[in-house]
Amino acid sequence: MNARAPYQREIMDAISNPFTERVVMMTASQIGKTELLLNVIGYHVDQEPAPILKLDPTLELGEAFSKDRLAPMIRDTPALQGKIKDPRSRDSGNTLLHKTFPGGHITIAGSNSPASLASRPIRVLICDEVDRYPQSAGTEGDPVSLAIQRTSNFWNRRIVLVSTPTVMGISRIEKAYIVN
Ligand SMILES: Nc1ncnc2c1ncn2[C@@H]1O[C@H](COP(=O)(O)OP(=O)(O)O)[C@@H](O)[C@H]1O
Ligand SMILES: [Mg+2]
Repeated sequence: MNARAPYQREIMDAISNPFTERVVMMTASQIGKTELLLNVIGYHVDQEPAPILKLDPTLELGEAFSKDRLAPMIRDTPALQGKIKDPRSRDSGNTLLHKTFPGGHITIAGSNSPASLASRPIRVLICDEVDRYPQSAGTEGDPVSLAIQRTSNFWNRRIVLVSTPTVMGISRIEKAYIVN
C-alpha cells in the first residue's frame, strides 16, 4: 500500500540496499514506522532469509506486536503463509517470540530483558521505539549495544533503529540520527 504513504518507499529501499548497514528513522508517531518494519520482516522471510531480531521496549510489547501485527501479516500474505507455521499447529516449533522459516528465524525480544537479548547470532536487527528503552537491560548495559553485539559476525548485517523522539538532548534516536 505504498500509494497511501509514498514516503515509506525510500526508507524501505534504504533498508534493503545491500550497501547500507544502518538506517535510523526518527519521525512522528502513527506514520507507519512499525508497518514498514513488518514489510522488512516479510521481505527477509520471503526473499533474503536471515536471522532477524525485532527488539521492542518490553517483552509485553513484543508479545503484542507478535499477536496483533506479525501474526495477521503472516496469515494474510500468501508468500509467507507456507514459510512460517502457525504456533498453534503442534509440530510448528514456533512460539509467540520465536518463529522459524527456511533459512532463518524471527526472534522478538524486550529491551528490559537481558536474557531475551543474549544467545543467538543476528544479521537483521530491528529496534522499534528505542526512546522507550531503559538505559540498561537489567545490569548488563545498553540494550541497543547488547543487541548490536549479536550482529558482529555478519559482514552483511543490517541495523535499523526507529523511534518517535522524546526529550531533546537525552533522546537515543536523536543521538543516533545526528551521528548518522
Ligand atoms: N502504507 C500503509 N497503508 C495503509 N495503512 C498503513 C500504512 N502504513 C501504516 N498504516 C497504518 O497506520 C497506522 C499507524 O501505523 P504504525 O506503523 O503503527 O505507525 P508508527 O509505528 O509510526 O506509530 C496503523 O494502523 C497502520 O496499519
Ligand atoms: Mg510503532
